[in-house]
Amino acid sequence: MIPAPRHLAATVVLATLFAASCARQSTAIKVGEIASLTGKEAAFGQSSHKGTVLAIEELNRAGGILGQQLELVSEDNQTKAGESATIARKLISRDKVVALLGEVASSRSLEMAPIAQSSHIPMISPSSTNPAVTETGDYIFRVCFIDPFQGVVMAKFARDTLKVRKVALLTSVSSAYSVGLAKYFKERFVADGGELVMEQKFSEGDKDFKAQLTAIKAAGVDGIFVPGYYTEAALICKQARDLGLALPIFGGDGWEAPQLTEIGGRAVEGTYYSTHYSPENKTPAVQEFVKKFQQRWNGETPDAMAALGYDSAMVLADAIKRAGSTDGAKLRDAIAATKDYPGVTGATTIDAERNATKSAVVITVKDGQFKFVETVAP
Ligand code: PHE
Repeated sequence: MIPAPRHLAATVVLATLFAASCARQSTAIKVGEIASLTGKEAAFGQSSHKGTVLAIEELNRAGGILGQQLELVSEDNQTKAGESATIARKLISRDKVVALLGEVASSRSLEMAPIAQSSHIPMISPSSTNPAVTETGDYIFRVCFIDPFQGVVMAKFARDTLKVRKVALLTSVSSAYSVGLAKYFKERFVADGGELVMEQKFSEGDKDFKAQLTAIKAAGVDGIFVPGYYTEAALICKQARDLGLALPIFGGDGWEAPQLTEIGGRAVEGTYYSTHYSPENKTPAVQEFVKKFQQRWNGETPDAMAALGYDSAMVLADAIKRAGSTDGAKLRDAIAATKDYPGVTGATTIDAERNATKSAVVITVKDGQFKFVETVAP
């Protein structure tokens, strides 16, 4: 059947639009993202991913970068050890991404970093805080503070605010983040005259902490530092309270997820953790971000990982713009030169070690909600 002229015109318009969108797609700048979208730490990956998507969509609506749209190629490592390196290889060689965003967790960032480094493809971790991540090489960056700072923040908070003098540590030996944060906390707490009475260990995925907590109870401490992730932290608080341990329990950014209170319930009331940002912060940058995020994601309030995921994509886009190119070496230099980029989590300056120096925030759990306590400047 021969289409009527009107239809013919419509067909031509559609074909033109289709061709234009293909052309745009074939020249899109591809950015790889590796995140734990499912599995044990899905809360981290999901949050970070939502922040990153929000940034990419915003950039594209504003016309993209260097006259091109950005295409986010997201891959899920299912929180499984060993996946992130394989995915990084695939994103670089098959998808030809110009940079990698990820991972949240330090152990998984440490898996993907050597691949990015040897391929000369810049990687920006939104939120991995273990120093070794960026020590991998000069193509590896992060937009957050590192654990030597976070450990000091919580050592001082334990001493000055919680008045803890004798502390027990409960460290996850299978997590680079946990081992590092425990070490930095311990160094400062002891240097300030505190006593580390006992260090107990566990592994990611453990569910029963009764033996460690019973030993801690017998040791007679007045606080427990748990540098771990939210699932284990919540279970540890529950089992500690069940054993009658009524002392302060506190941790670091790995505690931050809705599951902390969902799993922990009343047992996490009055606990404390340090993190990167609070949605309660009244600065216009934070409030505007919270509003945009809620509009995009069904009313959900963005947490620290969402804010850092957003900032990581924005810092990358800013660097591509300044580099005027997506060439790996030029892009690397531009990211390294990032100075005072106005991020949601604060002004971002990449230092000589490719880390960012930012304030930390202490949060407490009150009536099942995360409440801002204080900001600690570097
Ligand atoms: N800092 C943690 C790590 O390095 C990850 C994390 C960041 C978790 C921010 C929660 C919030 O593994």
